[in-house]
Amino acid sequence: MENNTGKHRIQGLSFRSLADQFGTPLYIYDSARIISQISTLRSKVQDIKIKYAAKALTNLSILKLMRRHGVGVDVVSIQEAQIARLAGYESREIMFTPNSVSFDEIVAGVEMGLNINLDNLPMLEKFGAKYGNSYPCCLRLNPNIMAGGNYKISTGHSHSKFGINILQKESILNNIKRYNIQVNGLHIHTGSEILDLEVFQKMSDILFGLAEEFTDVNFLDFGGGIKVAYKAGEPVTDIEALGKMLSDARETFARKTGRKLELWMEPGKFLVSEAGYLLVRTNVVKETPAVTFVGVDSGLNQLVRPMMYDAYHEIVNVSNTSGEKKVYTVVGNVCETDTFGKDRELHEVHEGDLLVILNAGAYGYSMASNYNSRLRPAEVLIHEGVAKLIRKRDTLEQMLSGQIDVFE
Ligand code: LLP
Repeated sequence: MENNTGKHRIQGLSFRSLADQFGTPLYIYDSARIISQISTLRSKVQDIKIKYAAKALTNLSILKLMRRHGVGVDVVSIQEAQIARLAGYESREIMFTPNSVSFDEIVAGVEMGLNINLDNLPMLEKFGAKYGNSYPCCLRLNPNIMAGGNYKISTGHSHSKFGINILQKESILNNIKRYNIQVNGLHIHTGSEILDLEVFQKMSDILFGLAEEFTDVNFLDFGGGIKVAYKAGEPVTDIEALGKMLSDARETFARKTGRKLELWMEPGKFLVSEAGYLLVRTNVVKETPAVTFVGVDSGLNQLVRPMMYDAYHEIVNVSNTSGEKKVYTVVGNVCETDTFGKDRELHEVHEGDLLVILNAGAYGYSMASNYNSRLRPAEVLIHEGVAKLIRKRDTLEQMLSGQIDVFE
């Protein structure tokens, strides 16, 4: 977000003009930021094959933008795979990493021609029995590492439901032998918001170590989890050091085995978090003896991260960018406690002021619901200086369209 001359703008467009044109609440994405994140990652991690974690922000236009820039995609459901196909992805560009799905969904993934990532032993056994060595698969492993911004987004520890535990290696190998399964990739996603490079180092040791035994493997997938800043100056994952570490490990492996493996990553937040803004309008400024609340026209049904993960999202008053600051608690309009930000210093807020909530690109709209029967916001992509509507605001008709009135 540019803030020259006190006016907050994206690619030259002011938040006020976007609110005038599209209304609020509004999700806004900056394509330039997404593109620059892609090139940053490529420049720091040599030869990286990026598979965008589509669940972070699943809009067709975003997927098309990713594809245009040579980014593959990671999906977690058949529907996400179908959306990726609609966005123009070829099946071989799609990694399918579901969890706790039925075998039927795996079969559907094979029928679509996706890269299949299996995350439990019963699935591996069924896969082997059905496909033998006629269709390759990747294995999602659980490395027994506790890492991630908070417990809910930590997926690589021994009590997490994700992945096949590496301590079950013998069972994996037995299945592979029994059914002659062709394992072409190994995958670990330890969680979201991994700051500690030690975690990636351990993943790398495990993956490259196992790749020596799994001789059909031609790619290693390090998942997502790159941490971005939610607050100015907050530490972020050192991707330069990460890149160096991965390249060194790959070279060492190649020297030792003569095999050059592809390196894959599946970032979600890194690519889209900072590119997204939730623009809201102040409905009311409510002073109580204890707190001054700013009540806005959005809520946890439209951005659940603060309430679900205690996530911090910066909030800026874009209608008043100078003068006195006061302390406010910014809340939503849902009939639940839905705090966007507690005790925030904002330039004095008046009814009608536009506030922007930052880092709303990842897991914002994609986790939104119609709770309280509110209409989900519209989504706008700012691309090459032009604001384009990429999803209309919900309508009441749309919200009711699946319902069947049995008392009619
Ligand atoms: N790959 C796999 C297999 C994943 O499960 C995920 C995220 C990613 C990649 C992308 O992770 P990222 O780069 O975005 O950290 N809703 C939560 C985050 C849940 C992440 C789920 N899996 C949040 O808003 O913090």
